[in-house]
Amino acid sequence: MSMNERDGVEEDSSWADASLLVGLPAAVRAALVLNVPKIIDSVFPILALSAEEICKHVTETQGRPASPQNLEKIMDYLCCNGIFSMTIEEEEKNVGFFRVKKYSHSKFFYKYLVEEAPELQQIYVRQLKGSSTQGLKLLTEKYDDEFNTLKGRVVDVGGQEGAICTGLAAKYPHLSFINFDLPEVIRGAPRISRVEHVGGSFFEEVPSGNLLIIKFCLLNWNDESCLRILKNCRKALAQERSGKLLIIDRMDRSADTVTRDEDVKARTASAFANFFGSLVLNGARTRTLEEFRGLALAAGFSALEFVHNYPGFDLMEARV
Ligand SMILES: C[S@@+](CC[C@H](N)C(=O)[O-])C[C@H]1O[C@@H](n2cnc3c(N)ncnc32)[C@H](O)[C@@H]1O
Repeated sequence: MSMNERDGVEEDSSWADASLLVGLPAAVRAALVLNVPKIIDSVFPILALSAEEICKHVTETQGRPASPQNLEKIMDYLCCNGIFSMTIEEEEKNVGFFRVKKYSHSKFFYKYLVEEAPELQQIYVRQLKGSSTQGLKLLTEKYDDEFNTLKGRVVDVGGQEGAICTGLAAKYPHLSFINFDLPEVIRGAPRISRVEHVGGSFFEEVPSGNLLIIKFCLLNWNDESCLRILKNCRKALAQERSGKLLIIDRMDRSADTVTRDEDVKARTASAFANFFGSLVLNGARTRTLEEFRGLALAAGFSALEFVHNYPGFDLMEARV
């Protein structure tokens, strides 16, 4: 119970607790069981469907009936909690116009963070900076010789505010760096010596370099989008005869045998990325080594090999 300031009346907040503790997990579960995020992705580029349309896909793909009336209630509730968005469209049917609720994924996650949730963005940046320390350790342990003998420019693709470039620039003063991310993210990035911040989209073009790094970006996208990103990375290495793209990502570890604590951590990190990604990031998922290799080869790389891993951090290299 808490005090309602305006009326001085004791307010019962138990319904809100029940909503968060019971209602939200149940609604999220129902949406996942019915495969709603993937169904919405599958109608790209429309990306907004009514409950009735979603249920039609459920019947076609899963062979079981789903009730549009019930799904609408679930989707409305998930929209209230920011998991999906809803718009109302007018649709013509044989007896006139009807107002129909259409559901889509909520605002693109990274724009939402920067534009609407700066406090959450700060937590997110802090968390990723922590993960960059691990990423840096992995890169400098495995590629120290390569960085020492490399000449030219390293590009961190989707590097956020430049944590990886900062660490590498301090350790390898003979190299120059580009930290590449969305313009709205780059706007808030701090100045870093020998690091140029470049704003743009990896779906359009990636700045050229002698070595490219991409950390925790591919897991945010479906296969089609990953292929576009990888093709642009391959183009950015066009001048290099032995160029490499170093990929740090989370592999799909759902089928791994779990014996050590480290394995449990790795599998949990991977499962979290898979679950969270599919809800807020339009078709995101973790991938097996074979799936990464298939995408890299399709993008024009000649090979992709697994290099090393820490729990939750898988390092691979794609070769030109
Ligand atoms: C999970 S974060 C990883 C950030 C950083 N690489 C790290 O591991 O700390 C994904 C990054 O991709 C960036 N991103 C999303 N869409 C992008 C686009 N179209 N072009 C370039 N960067 C993008 C985001 O702004 C975000 O910084």
